[in-house]
Amino acid sequence: MTSLPSLDVEFVRTQFPAFGSPENDGTCFFDNAAGSYACRQTIDALTDFYTHTKVQPYSPFGPSERAGELMDRSRERWAEALGVDTDEVVFGPSTSMNTYVLAQAFGQWLSADDEVIVTNQDHEANTGSTRRMAERLGCPMHEWRTNPDTGLLDVADLEALLNERTRLVTVPHASNIVGQENEIARICELAHAVGARVIVDGVSFVPHGIPDVAALGADVYLFSLYKVYSVHQGVMVVRRELLNELPNQGHFFNDSVPHARLNPAGPDHAQVGCAAAVLDYVETLHRHHGGDPADSLRRACADVSELWQAHEDALTVSLLDAVAGNDRLRLLGPAVLDVNDGHRCPTVAVSPTSIEPEALQDALIARGVQTTANHFYGWRCLDGMGVDPERGALRLSFVHYTTEAEVDRVIQALDEIVG
Ligand SMILES: Cc1ncc(COP(=O)(O)O)c(C=O)c1O
Repeated sequence: MTSLPSLDVEFVRTQFPAFGSPENDGTCFFDNAAGSYACRQTIDALTDFYTHTKVQPYSPFGPSERAGELMDRSRERWAEALGVDTDEVVFGPSTSMNTYVLAQAFGQWLSADDEVIVTNQDHEANTGSTRRMAERLGCPMHEWRTNPDTGLLDVADLEALLNERTRLVTVPHASNIVGQENEIARICELAHAVGARVIVDGVSFVPHGIPDVAALGADVYLFSLYKVYSVHQGVMVVRRELLNELPNQGHFFNDSVPHARLNPAGPDHAQVGCAAAVLDYVETLHRHHGGDPADSLRRACADVSELWQAHEDALTVSLLDAVAGNDRLRLLGPAVLDVNDGHRCPTVAVSPTSIEPEALQDALIARGVQTTANHFYGWRCLDGMGVDPERGALRLSFVHYTTEAEVDRVIQALDEIVG
């Protein structure tokens, strides 16, 4: 447990230039689950990269060598942050692209009598390409379904689906609609006990806490940096044993380059080279709150994640209380922070009953609350709760830089609009 004091939100906000942008004057931002603001360190790193090192990397002349070093540093730093080896970190254009490539690899690795389990809680990125791959192969595919009232997954239902033929399970770390964290360590333990591998979509979780992926036990862990105060890249951790087993999806001569095997895309040099700058931000926060500069990056990430979570939790409780107490808003997901040993992320989606979600979105925007109504590619998740995905839901999502006053403003705006 960290002994750091509570989060200094005022200091945090000085690290995000977007708060000083005239575009955002008089507004508050509640669309963070779609994409967060970038921290100053990320923006500065991109400017530096484009100014000084915007050449093909890894050639033996100054700017090119430096560009290559920055790209290598990003992989090393993210590996340390996530508690894995450098070779296990793959950058790709996005999580959707990473899961697509992964599905091609699993499509060559699985055979027709292997079984696959997918959930209906996932964002489509973590399920669509796997479903298509399983259908193509003719693999029996089981859907681990959410509770229609709560949108939550029950591990007991997974246990009933797992058997000695199960080879692959895909699951979100946290849902981008119901906000709930799933019990990943337990899920991985159960899947591994029957010899299955687990792909975990961490996109909705990592903005709220940088996980120790080794401790979670996931075989593949994915997330999107543009939601973590950083550049538009997907990070995919593939644990070494699986990485060695999966067929190479890149150029034949890169077969022995671990991070190139599952990334056929030519890398975006600048984005990859600047991907670790957000970890400099994490270290800045750690030191600002009294963290020991000698601490490992992994330790700083763990401590700062606790600070983020404690701050977010207090705000989430206020918002949940306001929404759950309003009978014109159906809260999607739990009304409390802790259910099933999991945690609720500050992603609060509602299905309004007295107004269309889009009209609610427009009325909130008119009151300075930037938010969106949509199905958020969690089409199956909404459908599973009996919410028409085409009508969508209104999602209010925030992160550690959000203030209590901003949440109060949203609560008041909701009150004015839906009563
Ligand atoms: C939970 C979740 N998973 C996956 C994705 C896909 O990520 P990307 O946009 O990097 O393809 C998103 C994007 O919104 C998401 O919210």
